Amino acid sequence: AATVTYDFDIGWVYANPDGQAIRPVIGINGQWPIPTISVTKGDRLIVNVQNSLGNESTSLHFHGLYMNGTNHMDGAIGVTQCGIAPGSSFTYNFTVDQPGTYWYHSHAKGQYPDGLRGPLIVHDPEDPHKDLYDEELVLTFSDWYHDLMNPLLAFFMSVANPSGAEPVPNSALVNETQNLTISITPGRTYLVRMINIGAFAAHYIWFEDHTMQIVEVDGSYTEPTDADMIYMTAAQRYSVLITAKNNTDANFAFVGAMDQDLFDVVPDGLNSNVTGWLVYDDSLEKHPPKDVNAFEPFDDFSLVPWDKEELYDKVDRTIRLDLKMDNLDDGANYAFFNDVTYVRPKVPTLYTVLSTGPNATNPTIYGSNTNQFLLEPNEVVEIILNNDDPGKHPFHLHGHTFQVISRSDDEAGFYDPSSSSSFPSTPMKRDTVLVRPNGNAVMRFRADNPGVWFFHCHIEWHVVSGLVATIIESPLSIQSQLANKIPSDHYDTCLILNSPTA
Ligand code: C2O
Repeated sequence: AATVTYDFDIGWVYANPDGQAIRPVIGINGQWPIPTISVTKGDRLIVNVQNSLGNESTSLHFHGLYMNGTNHMDGAIGVTQCGIAPGSSFTYNFTVDQPGTYWYHSHAKGQYPDGLRGPLIVHDPEDPHKDLYDEELVLTFSDWYHDLMNPLLAFFMSVANPSGAEPVPNSALVNETQNLTISITPGRTYLVRMINIGAFAAHYIWFEDHTMQIVEVDGSYTEPTDADMIYMTAAQRYSVLITAKNNTDANFAFVGAMDQDLFDVVPDGLNSNVTGWLVYDDSLEKHPPKDVNAFEPFDDFSLVPWDKEELYDKVDRTIRLDLKMDNLDDGANYAFFNDVTYVRPKVPTLYTVLSTGPNATNPTIYGSNTNQFLLEPNEVVEIILNNDDPGKHPFHLHGHTFQVISRSDDEAGFYDPSSSSSFPSTPMKRDTVLVRPNGNAVMRFRADNPGVWFFHCHIEWHVVSGLVATIIESPLSIQSQLANKIPSDHYDTCLILNSPTA
């Protein structure tokens, strides 16, 4: 295994990715889009961050990586670290033991939609599908706003927006542009790693006249499964095999179509699709793509994991989370789990674990606004998520993949534990799952990774409005793993942020 080092100077640059509005975006080393992080399974990854934003603190989260034994490198502000103060530096340093398609993004409030979001690819010399493809491609899909997040957030969380309507994106991007063409070699098979790095919108994705064969979701290999169209929520990933035609008289579109059902209003003239091109030969004609309604989206619940991991059939602990949106006294709209809206603690929850000795197993020390749940080592945990809201929510758990053992259709109401006798014997595994409007979903995982892990809706607006829980897994094991192991730059940035002159 190698050590792979990136030096990232994070700062504002200008960009105009959809050709309609030049605006400041958060770049790295003066560039935007930001670089792809690329490692091989087993490597040590070191990312030296310098925060040159000037006006905002920042962090990097490596979405989907387990951070086993390195919880303090997970990048979640208020959970595993303080924000990296403007002008200061911070080093992420951990080993990567999982193969697959991931991404990295800021975990500072509202920041990744301003551009600090990019692919993280972990190559696997033992990829079970490696003989099936010749070449790899990475495609990021995302929504895009012409305004910066700070003013959008100020409006979103204000009395002027009592219904909590999320700002509607101005456009959609693929690889942070609307002008992507990919030259295709006839007869070759491509592993296309697709990542939704957006803040809000799920995308319907299809390749005209080319079938996708799904081989990986969210870092878990799957039995190869054909799909004409994929529905990919914010933060989800799909790797698909696409075989190029041997003979063709055309070039073919591929499309990411934002799910307009998420938007309260669809503004006149919004182009919610982004189209790219598989180009066999520049001289061939381009067929315009079909409409989003021409396809049936693939149901990910039917996926079978490659390792055939069996259903965890004995549950040691059930966590029930009832989700709703409502107004508080300030007139703004908030999101709640079990009537509590998350408020970030002043001291990162991990530091509370590390500083409280045996009291770390006492839930009350974590405050009343962190939606905290304490887990015992190695127990099987079931999360029941009841969505008492007419919106779709993509839920993500840090530090784990979970089995999705049940998921309702729209409007099914709360989960009824007594009615569900049959679960899949080898349930799909993901780290981000769609929960449907006024529906429910049930996930299970084993608490085999001591750490403080965020569980949240990956719609960035909903993180800000409090749709977050804190899973505190095996706090005494965290203490024995990490006592005296937190590098001083982690604590230094807390001191800078809390100093009276900051
Ligand atoms: Cu992409 Cu807290 O996650």
